[in-house]
Amino acid sequence: MSFPVNRPRRLRRTEKLRSLVREHWLSTAGYIYPMFVCPGTKIRKEVSSMPGIYQQSGDQILEECREVESLGIPGVILFGLPESKDAQGKSSLAADGVVQRAIEGIKKAKLDLLVITDVCLCEYTDHGHCGVLAGSEIVNDATLEILSEQALSHARAGADMVAPSDMMDGRVGAIRTKLDKHKFENVPIMAYSAKYCSGFYGPFREAAQSAPQFGDRRSYQMDPANAREAMREVALDLEEGADIVMVKPALPYLDIIRMVRDRFDVPVAAYNVSGEYSMVKAAAQNNWIDEKRVVLEILTGIQRAGAEIVLTYHAKDVARWLKT
Ligand code: PBG
Repeated sequence: MSFPVNRPRRLRRTEKLRSLVREHWLSTAGYIYPMFVCPGTKIRKEVSSMPGIYQQSGDQILEECREVESLGIPGVILFGLPESKDAQGKSSLAADGVVQRAIEGIKKAKLDLLVITDVCLCEYTDHGHCGVLAGSEIVNDATLEILSEQALSHARAGADMVAPSDMMDGRVGAIRTKLDKHKFENVPIMAYSAKYCSGFYGPFREAAQSAPQFGDRRSYQMDPANAREAMREVALDLEEGADIVMVKPALPYLDIIRMVRDRFDVPVAAYNVSGEYSMVKAAAQNNWIDEKRVVLEILTGIQRAGAEIVLTYHAKDVARWLKT
């Protein structure tokens, strides 16, 4: 009965009609651009598995931040490649550490940019795990104090927001308590709440030099087969004081983004991770796909799934494409 009265193609005939009825529009307003800070000056070394993404010293980070600002991208998230590593990740706490100095540089330049920091131990520990060890066990509670000290040192350096990515139990609460005790009650926490143990982090571990030296992260990151458990993780992080919750990676977990969006009335972020970026770049370099078209489709999909904030290495490219 519906045909021939109903013809959905009527509204697809011209671009004017299509855009009139378009449900989602991409905007740079929710994008966060990830960056890797290393020691030294004038260093800008491309990550081989992530074309267009660099390990950079603070001065170069500042230059790229100017570009990010001019493109209308609201924020960056910083990852640190420290000078030295130890079992406890102590170099992550130094007031003159790589990330702390980079924040100060960006803040001194008065850029109109949110500076967010990744709070974790894996880039700073010699064993590459996100927590401290007892034998080969990753110890939860002893890790919380180091993580909250790290978050505090980022806040002291001027970070606008901290983003714990370690997946230890109770870390959001520990960080909130620490920040509040030192009068940083206005620094929000974006929690990597549903962070899955994913093969898609492969290129990041080259970029951040943070691959675990033994074993894997299955005892703290989530099992990819679980969806209900993600709701529990999000609920716990919110109880502990998270302001924004994140699902990570994005593409294999669009259902999780949708579930979180429908159940919790807080801003939802998704991390379009390194492996998702590298796959697109590699295929594009081979002329197997149209990069611009595929990236815009991917980011539309993540937004349609319900994420209003997206951490993505494509942010600068998309900002340029949306301008033209
Ligand atoms: C640190 C951290 C990781 C990522 C963000 N923070 C790596 C990991 O957990 O192994 C991954 C980001 C990406 O792949 O782009 N814990």
